[in-house]
Order: sequence, then C-alpha cells, then structure tokens
Amino acid sequence: MASLSHKDLLGIEQLSVEDIQLILDTAEALREVAARPVKKVPTLRGKTVVNLFFEPSTRTRSSFELAEKRLSADILNFSASTSSVTKGETLLDTAHNLEAMSPDIIVIRHQSAGAPHLLGRECRASIVNAGDGMHEHPTQALLDGLTVRTIKGRLDGLKVAIIGDVAHSRVVRSDTILFSRMGADVWVCGPPTLLPWEFEKLGARTTPHMEEAMDGADVIMMLRVQHERQNEAFFPSAREYASLYGLTRERMRSAKKGAIVMHPGPINRGVEIESEVADADYSVILNQVSNGVAARMAVLYLLSGNSGLEP
Ligand code: NCD
Repeated sequence: MASLSHKDLLGIEQLSVEDIQLILDTAEALREVAARPVKKVPTLRGKTVVNLFFEPSTRTRSSFELAEKRLSADILNFSASTSSVTKGETLLDTAHNLEAMSPDIIVIRHQSAGAPHLLGRECRASIVNAGDGMHEHPTQALLDGLTVRTIKGRLDGLKVAIIGDVAHSRVVRSDTILFSRMGADVWVCGPPTLLPWEFEKLGARTTPHMEEAMDGADVIMMLRVQHERQNEAFFPSAREYASLYGLTRERMRSAKKGAIVMHPGPINRGVEIESEVADADYSVILNQVSNGVAARMAVLYLLSGNSGLEP
C-alpha cells in the first residue's frame, strides 16, 4: 500500500485524490481500534507529539489527544493562554524552543492564516494544521469525507450543500476542496454579506438561496455563525438569520429522502440549526466526532512514515 509523500499536513489544497483516498482508507482501518477493549496500538511508541493550541478548542483538541494516545505517542499539551506567549514570545521563538526538545509532530491551531505553513518551513518536525484563522482545517474535512463515505458508500456524484457563515469558516474552504476534488457537486450558500464568490474558483457553486442549495442535496452541512470573528453586523439579528438560513424541521420536509445533516460543532442551537434537527436520526453530528479520532489517527500514522492500511 502507498504512503504519504508529504512532511506536513497544511491543507487539503496540497493533497491529491490518491492522498485523500489513502488517508480515508487508513482511517477506516484504524477505526476498529475504538471498538477494542484495549484501545491502543503501539505504532507511535517513542514518538513525541506537541499539541500547540493558540485558539479555544474542545472537539479538535481532545480528538487529536485521543488519537495520539491510541497510537501510544508521548504527548505535550501547550496552551497559549498559560504559556510565555502571554509574555510576548513570538510564534517562531515558541516553535524553535519546542523544536529544541525534539518533537516528531507538532499539531497547531492558530488565529492567523499561514501559521502552520511558517512552522512547516522552519521546523524539522511534521506540522499538522488543526485550523489556521479563516483559511483551512484539513482534518475536519477528512473526518467529514470519512463520515459521508461511510454512510453513502462514495463521495463522487453526491450533492453536498454547505450553508451558513461561509466568509469566516475555515471548515467550508477545506470541505469544498476535498468534496469537489473527490467528484462531489458542492454548493456553498449563505447570506450575500457572508458569501465570497471566490468559492466558485475552488470548484463550488454559490447561491444565497437556501432552498436552491438544499434541493436534491445528499448532504446538508451547516456552519456555525462565527460571532467571535465578526467585527461588524453582517445580518440584522440572530432571529432574522435563523428565519432565512436556519435548518428547521420545516425545511427538512422538502429535503431529499435519505439526506444527512452535518455540523462541525460547536452548534448554536436555534440559530443555524434547530435543536430537533440537530438531534434527529438523520443528523450525523456525533458520527463526525467519532470519525474525527480515526481520521486524525490516520494522519499521524501516515505522517510518521507508515504505509497506508486497507479498510
Ligand atoms: C470548527 C473550527 O474551529 O473551525 N470547529 C471544529 O474544529 N470542530 C468550526 C467552528 O468553530 O465553527
């Protein structure tokens, strides 16, 4: 089986169709570790992974940590709020100091787009982007691809509608590249003030009309309204937003039969998604969380030089 030729995972942008398939196949094979009584394999024994988080995170951080533990790596958790970053240390100085301790892999989440790319150039360790500003979130797209492939049996030919605060989302950028590269028909939708037309260059079709995006969609992926990244008013009120772009039971009545609902979390119940929809049996939000651990295990496993696994 093939192996990954990259030193780092910086974005979906750099991955070929074969790379994506390799990661998804390996993730599928590693998923069974979670079902074992002893949830551990020795693959990364003796390797050190640093988790460098400069932005808040619940799912991504715990998912990476579990993935690393299940692969038997030694872990160093570094949280910016309790580190020398608060004393004015630059990102590069922090990275060089961590490098001096010889880590094998550095997982980084940072508020600035391009921060992982900078580390990738400067560090010997493999760098994994766990979300850089409004740019990319490659492991989220990989776990989303794994979730859809598991449920639908394929990615090509599916209609994937991604709806919400497109402008501030790194998830939509990585997902658009991944799903369109894998042959899906990607529609990106949001209020005109939050819908950059450049998404058409990434292979998506864009529309401000939710009905058009949802029409015949096999996958409906909702995005969180990113209040923390909005420094101006992009829509009049949360209520107005919910009435135009919220996924409600009413709207789900006209969805294609068998359509699944996804969300990267954290969800704003009652804003972009109605509670009853988030908790319905067609919602696969928690499958995404479970698949996140397997997808991250696969990335760490392959970046450590191992050949891929067959599902
Ligand atoms: C996403 C993120 O941080 O970009 N969350 C996540 O990683 N699960 C999406 C979001 O914050 O809305």
